[in-house]
Amino acid sequence: MAAVRDFRHGQAALEAADAVALAKGHLVQPWPYAGDIGAEARSLVTSGDGIYLIDGDGKKLIDGPAGMWCINAGHRREELARVMYEQTMELSYNTPWYTMNAPSAELSHRIADHAPGDLSHVFYTTGGSSAVETALRFMQFYNNVRGRPEKKLILSRGGAYHGSTYLSASLNGRPRDRDWMDGADELVVKLSSPDPFRRPKGMTLEAFADFLVDEFRDSVKRLGADRIGCFVGEPVQASGGVIVPPAGYLKRIREICRENDILYVSDEVVTAFGRLGHVFASETLFDIEPDMITFAKGVTSGYFPLGGVVISERLLRDLNRSNHPDAMFGHGYTYTSHPVGCAVALKNLDLLEEGLLDHVREVGPYFQARLKTLEELPLVGDVRGAGLMACVECVADRESMDPLQLDKDVGKRIDAHCHELGLLVRPLINMCVMSPPLVITREQIDHLVEILREGISRTMDDLRKEGVWQG
Ligand SMILES: Cc1ncc(COP(=O)(O)O)c(C=O)c1O
Repeated sequence: MAAVRDFRHGQAALEAADAVALAKGHLVQPWPYAGDIGAEARSLVTSGDGIYLIDGDGKKLIDGPAGMWCINAGHRREELARVMYEQTMELSYNTPWYTMNAPSAELSHRIADHAPGDLSHVFYTTGGSSAVETALRFMQFYNNVRGRPEKKLILSRGGAYHGSTYLSASLNGRPRDRDWMDGADELVVKLSSPDPFRRPKGMTLEAFADFLVDEFRDSVKRLGADRIGCFVGEPVQASGGVIVPPAGYLKRIREICRENDILYVSDEVVTAFGRLGHVFASETLFDIEPDMITFAKGVTSGYFPLGGVVISERLLRDLNRSNHPDAMFGHGYTYTSHPVGCAVALKNLDLLEEGLLDHVREVGPYFQARLKTLEELPLVGDVRGAGLMACVECVADRESMDPLQLDKDVGKRIDAHCHELGLLVRPLINMCVMSPPLVITREQIDHLVEILREGISRTMDDLRKEGVWQG
């Protein structure tokens, strides 16, 4: 195993094997299982450059998921590092409680310029969960101030992922997420996932969209619009398996929300800042003007933990004019409007505007088309996606489309083979999610797809040998 550089002492100081041992002894990692919580060794990565990572054995890997959908501008961007250094040397922190800094003001102005409709103001948070949490608490505050304390229910959907704080996590609708976890269930109503691949057999896409819209409208009727505060939805459900909804459905949901004074929160934590080729996807790709948009991840290309909520001018004016001008939105974080985060986000936005967005629009269709060829493999049931996010879903067979018969950690098996071959995959039960850094080239896309194909083929061989699958 290689050595890990230690910047405190300027020298190689920690052997990779030691880092793994220390992690096993002292690190609790996210989403662990009870059986090995606090004692688990995950693959060590020691450095990155462009779309590549180097692991603890010195192996070069394509960063297939771009970290957690976030390293949009790629690893080791000197411009981003320099801005963080310079901002730190100028002003490393200021309290947002009673002071403000210029980078946060400038960033808000530029974000508002890109945001749809009258979304004009930004509240900064520390990441995506805190952004969703902020939007939800803002909805509660808004309705309290407007004298509608009963209007608090939140509509979410199967397949959704909105975060890991208590309220944001209560919205999550992916299998297994909530099996052992509590949540504010009395506040949340879950609707069907808009997953076209899993729509009832024989149903057209148009009929599926109608079904989803009817379900939404019926739920509003049943629950009462006066009890529903907001709908929260990702334009493309990311961690649920890159679920691209049927055409027109989100726009129709938006209309129902408007008719019933239900706030529409578009969770663009993954889709914003370039993943789909635009700063925001809600209006450009889905023709919706939400009341709030949440963002994080790509806003700093993952170089600094920053997120936020873009809020409609109308909502703020409603509060300004309410009968309770002394009502306080009792919400904020120590790191709200962090100057280093906002400064790096400004530079990152320059990179997006100066060519990265165009690049995604150019290579995105190629990425999707190349991945689509994997549907030739009998283990693969569906390949889908948009821009530079995609999912390869494995099924036992295309007739039953049964993912559970295949619940033999197929995603993890594919990931293990791909790791050997030089690609890091994000395994999700029976799925592999791909969302590489946006700087990926066509040649690198070819290489990524080639490795993934081989990783899936090797997994098919293993499953056959073990007698658990005969595709
Ligand atoms: C759509 C969406 N919302 C919110 C979150 C939570 O973001 P974070 O992990 O930064 O708290 C995620 C994380 O993947 C996400 O995909």
